[in-house]
Order: sequence, then structure tokens, then C-alpha cells
Amino acid sequence: MSGPLLLQLLRRGRAAQRPTGALSGVRSIIDTSYSAHFMDFGRSSIPSVMRKLVVNKLSPDFREAVTAQTVAVPTPGDAELLVRNRFVGVNASDINYSAGRYDPSAKPPFDAGFEGIGEVVGLGLSASSRYTVGDAVAYFGSGAFAEYTVVPAKESVPVPAVRPELLTLLVSGATAYIALKRLGDLAEGETVLVTAAAGGTGQFAVQFAKRAGCHVIGTCSSDEKAGFLKSIGCDRPINYAAEDLAETLRREYPRGVDVVYESVGGSVLQVAVNSLANRGRLIVIGFISGYQTASGIPAFRGATLPAKLLQRSASIRGFFLPHFVGDYREALGSMMQMLAAGKLVCEVDRGDLSQEGRFVGLESVFRAVDYMYAGKNLGKVVVELLPPPVGNKL
Ligand SMILES: NC(=O)c1ccc[n+]([C@@H]2O[C@H](COP(=O)([O-])OP(=O)(O)OC[C@H]3O[C@@H](n4cnc5c(N)ncnc54)[C@H](OP(=O)(O)O)[C@@H]3O)[C@@H](O)[C@H]2O)c1
Repeated sequence: MSGPLLLQLLRRGRAAQRPTGALSGVRSIIDTSYSAHFMDFGRSSIPSVMRKLVVNKLSPDFREAVTAQTVAVPTPGDAELLVRNRFVGVNASDINYSAGRYDPSAKPPFDAGFEGIGEVVGLGLSASSRYTVGDAVAYFGSGAFAEYTVVPAKESVPVPAVRPELLTLLVSGATAYIALKRLGDLAEGETVLVTAAAGGTGQFAVQFAKRAGCHVIGTCSSDEKAGFLKSIGCDRPINYAAEDLAETLRREYPRGVDVVYESVGGSVLQVAVNSLANRGRLIVIGFISGYQTASGIPAFRGATLPAKLLQRSASIRGFFLPHFVGDYREALGSMMQMLAAGKLVCEVDRGDLSQEGRFVGLESVFRAVDYMYAGKNLGKVVVELLPPPVGNKL
């Protein structure tokens, strides 16, 4: 497949879900002369209109960039599913996307949201070879911040049930699984530092490094998060609000750390580079500390970097999930097995402790993004959209 999968998914999604003009109040079926044969809506009751979040102006300020709109419910094409989203995942990069950093050629308006889980409520003929109305599916693609999303069938993942825990695996879990497997070269007994360890992807990096027999250090900003990290096997949680990260690493790990799973950037990246052991590997997962700025990139003093890497035969490696499409299915399958066997914690934060309570309804995506950027979340931030229809067993 040429080019990053995510961009392809996002472009395709945008084309499929371009905001529609006048709303008739009646479902628009592409061509009623053949739609009955080519599309199956089963006995789904689908409204004619829905709410979705649309990027109308490029900005890393999600509230400034994005507005909620009422549009016609889209119609799936031959190889597509119409998914009623029950839960959607919030990602740090939602604001990179709203700032147009993923695809500089993208011009607003375009749809927001990277991942959802819900049920199939309509599908095209080709898609019906693998799916049927009522199936539970998850997907990683564009336009998830909507009550209904059209998803290519081949890019959706059948799941046993519509549970928010499963949503944590699509981006957050897969990133940790594949990045550590492909770029970590973890060996038993090595020391691994995970930054933003109690968040969506960090929690998985902690658990996978532990499974590989490593000693795991995890950074976080509260004692509650540190307690959670202990509970998932982290050997040394560091609450950086209470103890100095650089000083703690210097004192307790004088030999340095072998691998860093680094998500914060800026001064944290600086400390992490300085903490690398001989032959250490630092994986750049993200740099959230810069995402809210105009450039999206936090300041970093890099002039001495080549010397530091050379002196320790250390390396810095970048990881971007869409470049590892070939690893995706295996990663998801393996994580689902671990979850089913009770060997993987998929912590979800639904905002129960946030000021206005649980994130329910499309508009609460705005609150959920703010909550994440205030560093409040423990686990993956998930928003619940539509409640299940009455009598639905999913
Ligand atoms: N490369 C890829 O393909 C890929 C895929 C997924 C995610 N990511 C990256 O992984 C990182 C985490 O993303 P996520 O969606 O899983 O988010 P998350 O970890 O669930 O939430 C973000 C966490 O980052 C920490 N943080 C540290 N400094 C921060 C700052 N200046 N502003 C806001 N938060 C800060 C906070 O935890 P504490 O307060 O406890 O520090 C916060 O809870 C991001 O850098 C993201 O871009 C990369």
C-alpha cells in the first residue's frame, strides 16, 4: 500500500462524508432503483440526520477549529459499512489533525476523530460477504466524531462486543505493541522508561515492556496515576510533580536506561536523551508538550545530540503507526487474546471525575480534549455517543 494508511483513510473518509447541503429530512438512498438489492439496512432504524464534528478552520485549538453540525446520515457504498458509533476515542493528535498537520494539502471543512466502535446498521453488497447488520465493529479511520460513520469494510475490525476497552487497542495499544516490537529490541533485564505512562498509549508500553521481562520506569503527574502504574506492573513510577525527573533518574539509574518510549518532547526528551545507557534506544512516539503551540513542535536543544549518541552508541528512532500497516492485524489479534485471557489491562477514562461528569454525547468531545490537555486523564480518554437502541443485545 503506498503512502501512510492513516492519510489514505482520512482522505477517503473525507470524500465519503463531505458535509451535505440542504437537509430534506428524508434518508437519501443513492439510487432507489437498485439500492434495495445493493444495500442492506436490515431492520435498523436510522434517522435521516445526525450530528458530527467538522474542522472548519485550521487550528491546534480544538474548540476554535471544530464545530458540531447537523448533516444527513451518509450512505455506505458497495464495500462500506455504516457504523452507529457507540464509543469514540480521543487522541492527543486530534489537535494536530485539526491544525492540518497530518495532511498539509487538506482544506477545511473536513471530518474529525480517528477511531470508533459501534454496530453495523447498513452496508453495501460486497461488504455483506464479511459483515451483517448488528455486527460489532471497531475502526481506525477518519470521521469518528460523528453519530454515524461510513467505514470501508476491509479497514474495520470485527470485535466480540461494543466495549470501550476494545477501543483502547486500535491506536493506543497498537502503537505501543508495534513500536516496542519493531524498534525497541527489548531484552530481558533491560530498563525501559515510559513517559506519559498512565495515559492511553503509555499504559500499554508499560505492560508490554514488563511482559518482555524489563524493569519499567513510568512518568506521570499525580500520586493516583503512580498508584495505577504500580497496579499494572510498573517498577518505578515517577510522579514528576513531586520529584525531579532528571535527578531521580541520575540517582537511581546511574548506568542509564536502555529504552525510552517517549511521548512528551521538549525538556522531557532532553532528560531522556541524557539518561540513555550505552547502546540505548529512544523511540520518539510523540511530543505532546508542543502540540498546542503554533508550530506544534516543542523547543529542543539538539546541537550536542550527535555527540551524545556517538559517545554511547545510542540511537533515536521515530515511530508513526500508519507506517506499520503490515503489523497491525497481528498486533490487534494478539492484544485481544491477552485481554480475553485477563493478561492485559485496558484502562479507560470516561471522564467520571471531570468537572461536568462522564463524557456522554458528541459535544462532550470538546471537554474530553480539554481534560486530556490538562493532564487529568488516567488511561485512554473515551467518549460515549449514542446509547444502544432499545432491545439491542450488543
Ligand atoms: N506515533 C504514533 O503513531 C502515535 C500514536 C498514538 C499516540 N501517539 C503519541 O502518544 C502520546 C500520548 O498520546 P495519547 O493520545 O495516548 O494521550 P494520553 O497519554 O492519553 O494523554 C496525554 C498525557 O500526556 C501527559 N502530558 C505530559 N506533558 C503534557 C503536556 N505538556 N500537555 C498535555 N499532556 C501532557 C499527561 O499525562 P501526565 O500528566 O501524567 O504526564 C496526559 O495525560 C502523544 O505524544 C501522541 O502524539 C503517537
